[in-house]
Amino acid sequence: MLDSYNDRWALITGASSGIGAEFAVQLAGRGMHLILAARRKDKMTELATDLNTRHGTRCHIVAVDLADPDSGRRLMEEVRRLGVQIELLVNNAGMGLIGQIETTTPEEVRKMLNLNLMTLSDLTYRVLPGMLSQGHGAIINMSSQAAFQPVAFMAAYAASKSYILHFSEALWAEARSRGVTVMALCPGVTRTEFFDLAGVPGWLEKHTSHPPGKVVKTALKTLEKRRQYVVPGWKNYLMTLFVRMTTRRTAVNESKRFFRPAKPQKPASEP
Ligand SMILES: NC(=O)c1ccc[n+]([C@@H]2O[C@H](COP(=O)([O-])OP(=O)(O)OC[C@H]3O[C@@H](n4cnc5c(N)ncnc54)[C@H](OP(=O)(O)O)[C@@H]3O)[C@@H](O)[C@H]2O)c1
Repeated sequence: MLDSYNDRWALITGASSGIGAEFAVQLAGRGMHLILAARRKDKMTELATDLNTRHGTRCHIVAVDLADPDSGRRLMEEVRRLGVQIELLVNNAGMGLIGQIETTTPEEVRKMLNLNLMTLSDLTYRVLPGMLSQGHGAIINMSSQAAFQPVAFMAAYAASKSYILHFSEALWAEARSRGVTVMALCPGVTRTEFFDLAGVPGWLEKHTSHPPGKVVKTALKTLEKRRQYVVPGWKNYLMTLFVRMTTRRTAVNESKRFFRPAKPQKPASEP
């Protein structure tokens, strides 16, 4: 459980855009000092300057590639050097890979798994012992609505988010009686750069989505109730229940319609 937001420190990964940047905005608004970590230093500097002007809170930036296997250790060294105690860790950084088997390279898959789960797990185990010894603190791990079922054409991504959901729920059960909350955040489609970067540019415009502000507001409200996971939006939540009631075969077959790649158009001159 959080001791307090005001004058405490939060570490947010993937804070240069989208949901991570929105966490920075809402947490600074509650008086938290922030450590922002991602690769794009210019974006984080702009955000930090704005938050400092608006809220007077402190903001430290760490430019780091979190797909690098040693990045969790290096990031926490930087935190130790600052001499601050992390009250809230938001393990948000992540990437997606959407496409057919032949167009998905093993190198991209390795990079995504390093980022989505290896570094997330590494940071969790580096931060949790300190929280447990002081008897307060919280971790939000970024999962997804995709965690509740296998998803065709984003097989490795959806499976990485299932890992995060199960990992976080198990730690929630272990840490809860010791004053610490670990919560998995499982958003549905959210308006960020995610889908453009994941390999389906323009996909977002054709689908219903939530703004990042709503996702973060729901996440913080649910964290205060000390729940183990949250799916923002009641329609998305119902979808996760529906998946449990149908057969696994139906669920995975139905998933094919979300990201099925478009058939290549035949040139007009062809018969
Ligand atoms: N958008 C959705 O519909 C949706 C739904 C469910 C879950 N999620 C999850 O939400 C999280 C945030 O995504 P988003 O939607 O906000 O997309 P986004 O705008 O693309 O944000 C991704 C963030 O992760 C950072 N990141 C990516 N690769 C990195 C690397 N190698 N090292 C360090 N940081 C890295 C990016 O920063 P740099 O590029 O500056 O490094 C950026 O700040 C992800 O974990 C994603 O899986 C998104």
